[in-house]
Amino acid sequence: MPLSNGPRFLCWLIAMCYMGLFPLAAAGPVKTACSVQGDSADCSHMRLKEIPQDLPWNITHLDVSHNILTSLHAASLAPYAGLLHLDVGFNSITKLEEALCQTLGRLHTLILEHNEVHLLKEADLSHCVQLTVLNMASNKLKMKAADPFAALENLMTLDVSKNMLVSAMLGSKPQLPSLVALTLSYNAISTLKKDDFHFLSRSTSLRVLNLSKLPLKQVEGGCFKPIANITFLSMDKCNLGTLTTKLCTELSETAIKTLSLQDTGLVRLTNTTFKGLEKTNLTFLYLANNTMNTIEKGAFQWLPTLEILNLENNNIKHLTKDAFQGLQSLKTLTLRQVRGRTSPTTLIDDFTFSPLVALESLILEHTVIRSITENTFTGLTSLQYLYMDWCSCISLRIINNKTFVSLAASPLRVLNLTGTAISQIGPGAFSAFPNLTTLSLDYNFISQTLTGREFEGLGQLEQLFFSNNRQMVVLTSRSFVRVPGLRILMLGKTLTGTMDLDPSPFGPLTNLNVLDLSNNNIANINAQMLDGLVNLMVLKIQHNNLARIWKSANIGGPVLFLKGLGNLTILDMDYCGLDEIPIDALAGLKKLKELSFSGNLLNSLKDSVFQDVLLLQELHLQKNLITAVRPQVFKQAMANLSLLDMGRNPFDCTCESILWFVTWLNTTTANVTGGKDQFTCNTPLAYFNRTIMDFDTLSCKDSTPFQALYILSSTVIIALMLVALLVRFHGWRIQFYWSILVNRTLGFSDAKVEEGREFEFDAYVIHADEDLKWVERSLLPLENEKYVFCMEGRDFLPGTSRLEAIVDNMKKSRKILFVVTESLLKDHWCRGFKAHHALHQVMEDSRDSVILVFLQDVHDYRLSRSLFLRRGMLRPRCLLYWPVHKERVPAFHEKLHIALGMTNNTLKP
Ligand SMILES: *[C@@H]1O[C@H](CO)[C@@H](O)[C@H](O)[C@H]1NC(C)=O
Ligand SMILES: *[C@@H]1O[C@H](CO)[C@@H](O)[C@H](O)[C@H]1NC(C)=O
Ligand SMILES: *[C@@H]1O[C@H](CO)[C@@H](O)[C@H](O)[C@H]1NC(C)=O
Ligand SMILES: *[C@@H]1O[C@H](CO)[C@@H](O)[C@H](O)[C@H]1NC(C)=O
Ligand SMILES: *[C@@H]1O[C@H](CO)[C@@H](O)[C@H](O)[C@H]1NC(C)=O
Ligand SMILES: *[C@@H]1O[C@H](CO)[C@@H](O)[C@H](O)[C@H]1NC(C)=O
Ligand SMILES: *[C@@H]1O[C@H](CO)[C@@H](O)[C@H](O)[C@H]1NC(C)=O
Ligand SMILES: *[C@@H]1O[C@H](CO)[C@@H](O)[C@H](O)[C@H]1NC(C)=O
Repeated sequence: MPLSNGPRFLCWLIAMCYMGLFPLAAAGPVKTACSVQGDSADCSHMRLKEIPQDLPWNITHLDVSHNILTSLHAASLAPYAGLLHLDVGFNSITKLEEALCQTLGRLHTLILEHNEVHLLKEADLSHCVQLTVLNMASNKLKMKAADPFAALENLMTLDVSKNMLVSAMLGSKPQLPSLVALTLSYNAISTLKKDDFHFLSRSTSLRVLNLSKLPLKQVEGGCFKPIANITFLSMDKCNLGTLTTKLCTELSETAIKTLSLQDTGLVRLTNTTFKGLEKTNLTFLYLANNTMNTIEKGAFQWLPTLEILNLENNNIKHLTKDAFQGLQSLKTLTLRQVRGRTSPTTLIDDFTFSPLVALESLILEHTVIRSITENTFTGLTSLQYLYMDWCSCISLRIINNKTFVSLAASPLRVLNLTGTAISQIGPGAFSAFPNLTTLSLDYNFISQTLTGREFEGLGQLEQLFFSNNRQMVVLTSRSFVRVPGLRILMLGKTLTGTMDLDPSPFGPLTNLNVLDLSNNNIANINAQMLDGLVNLMVLKIQHNNLARIWKSANIGGPVLFLKGLGNLTILDMDYCGLDEIPIDALAGLKKLKELSFSGNLLNSLKDSVFQDVLLLQELHLQKNLITAVRPQVFKQAMANLSLLDMGRNPFDCTCESILWFVTWLNTTTANVTGGKDQFTCNTPLAYFNRTIMDFDTLSCKDSTPFQALYILSSTVIIALMLVALLVRFHGWRIQFYWSILVNRTLGFSDAKVEEGREFEFDAYVIHADEDLKWVERSLLPLENEKYVFCMEGRDFLPGTSRLEAIVDNMKKSRKILFVVTESLLKDHWCRGFKAHHALHQVMEDSRDSVILVFLQDVHDYRLSRSLFLRRGMLRPRCLLYWPVHKERVPAFHEKLHIALGMTNNTLKP
């Protein structure tokens, strides 16, 4: 069975390829209609066989390139007689019609490149007097017929490259009087004959001649004589070799200024190669991409006016001290090697550059140099730019005060030592460069403590590029004291992770505009690090570990290291592990234009965190954990935005979190990286993985009043619940302390003073027999304190009648205390006589003498039927409830004290 998967997979693959590729092939850039803009019509890439006839009559530019036209009929162009520019390149046109320029009398530019014209007759262009540009590159011209260009009196540019020409002679008699540039490259011309350019002998304006990629074998004497006014000649890719010397001899009488001989197979420059150029004023000489390995002594002695010499990508193994003799005007010398090429190791003799007294730029990029000695650069007294980036040279491993001593006399301004494998910089390493403004030490292996002496003597330095070293460079407080004029300091991927220095190494750099501290794993900085950098405009501190520093839980609070940077315009804090932004972290950054916090763990931002950031143009917050984009946080920051990058956040698509953002997106003109549809909802489930632009904003319309209602009702409910809970669990305690307080301060327990002596007993206790136990356990102990109770079975004098005794004793008692239980209410005797009597007494004295102690919950109705009392008739203080919970018993006792202690008179009506 597994085998059957093979063919199936193949079918699938073929189907996929077909579906995938076919549209590509067919879709091509084919248009269906010409686009007309102003006076130009673009009908290119339309598979046209004919010139369209329905374009505006007054167009002046017509582009019908990249079609399948086979001929160019004058009649089909008749509607557009005013054409100035006609492009019929990349078609299959085989010949031109005589009437073309009769129809298009004003034509200036005719582009015919990439067609199949093989024969041009004299008549074909005979009326094209106005033509200034004719491009016939990549056709099949052989030029057998004579003088097809004879009528082109105004032609300035003629391109007949990539044809099948075997001779440079394009005419039999002098013509093309206005010609400036002629391109003959990529033809089959193998000889430049003496009279080949005779047809240009009246072309006094001719300056540019391009003869590259010709299979030249011979250059006849006097061939350039008719065109002696040329200033530019390119013979790139012609395999000249030793023919170069002859070529230069032939150029001796010309006005040549620029000679390009790149990739011409030159191997050796002898002391006569350029001899022929002696009388010219050659200024630019390009010799790149040859296989040149030797420059003989005095090879350039003939070129005293040369200003630019390009020798890049050659094979020079030895530059001798006479190689550049005579180049006293040279301003730029390029010895660059293209990256990736296996460059030869070059030995540069001492004093090699000393003839180059005018040299301003020396470009040694990617070269391999054997060594730099104390005299390698001696004599370069005008050198301002030295580019040695990616130069491999053992002498650069450790740079000390000797390395560049040969440049001490030069006013060097820029030194590029990027990627030169430097591992150490000694004290005073650059002290030879008092004029240096820019020093690049990027991509090296420097891993040392910067004491400050490394930059000794660099008083003018403004830009120091020190990025991509080994993250082992240690700064000290004095690291930059010698370079107080620094404006740009790049220290990305260079430093160790701790920057907690006091005073800060950046303290002296009051002019600093740009500071890059990115990719350093910095985890430890202090609030003073950027103090005083009032001119700082760009701070790049991305890819560090700043999470702790900005946590509110950080010991000593968040480190607000951005304070005082009032001129900051760009702040990059991507990938710093941040999960919060302290409320004042960005305070005062009023000029900030670009703010980037991508790739952090930011979730909810505090309301006023962006409150000072009013001019923001770019905001990058992609790849965070942001769920809500609320106006309280973002409204000001997004007010002037022109670019927002906020994708890949888990947005919460609810009215509260996203409504404002969706509304903002719908109305903003700012560019949104990745498009507005890329923001996807993570929650709630209904919107999961859908774009936030799907969020139904109408659903939020009425939520505002509901919100208020919701807040109000929930507050009320919570308050009620709190009160209920309090009362349920602690109300008694509150009541207890409250009553103690009130009683102690208001002194309700004053009964003893006034009434105490009148009564024998404090209370007459009435209870059911079943409740005797309770009375003994809970009431009688109080007698030990100060009360005297009267109880039937105990205190009655023997002999007296029971009824008499009851009445008597009740009269002797200040209070009558009922222990109310179901049993008491059922007790008939009690219900009958005792209750009546008690009630009577109540009426006689005052109701205040009755205390009800409920051991059980008894209904008021039953109470009134049995005891003729209602709770409402008594003062609340005289109604006591025996608590279920043991811990409340003390409170009960306290209440009982109060009830017993209360005077009966005070409240008498
Ligand atoms: C061309 O002519 C049309 C009217 O035929 C006119 O509307 C248009 O402006 C003209 N265009 C130019 C570039 O003159
Ligand atoms: C070179 O140009 C000058 C004036 O520009 C002219 O007089 C002279 O004839 C030209 N020489 C040639 C060979 O065309
Ligand atoms: C060229 O070099 C040869 C020796 O290599 C020397 O004899 C001759 O004089 C030199 N010619 C010039 C013009 O320097
Ligand atoms: C070279 O320049 C000098 C001075 O600028 C000038 O006199 C001389 O005619 C020029 N020579 C040529 C061949 O252009
Ligand atoms: C020289 O060679 C490099 C690569 O080898 C190439 O990129 C460059 O175009 C060449 N230049 C010329 C003028 O041939
Ligand atoms: C170079 O440094 C050495 C020791 O560090 C010192 O003795 C010498 O004077 C310095 N040379 C110059 C030119 O500064
Ligand atoms: C130094 O060279 C590097 C690599 O070629 C280049 O990227 C950088 O821009 C150069 N720096 C300066 C200041 O020229
Ligand atoms: C180089 O600096 C010195 C002193 O700092 C100054 O005198 C000189 O003019 C400067 N040279 C250049 C070319 O700026």
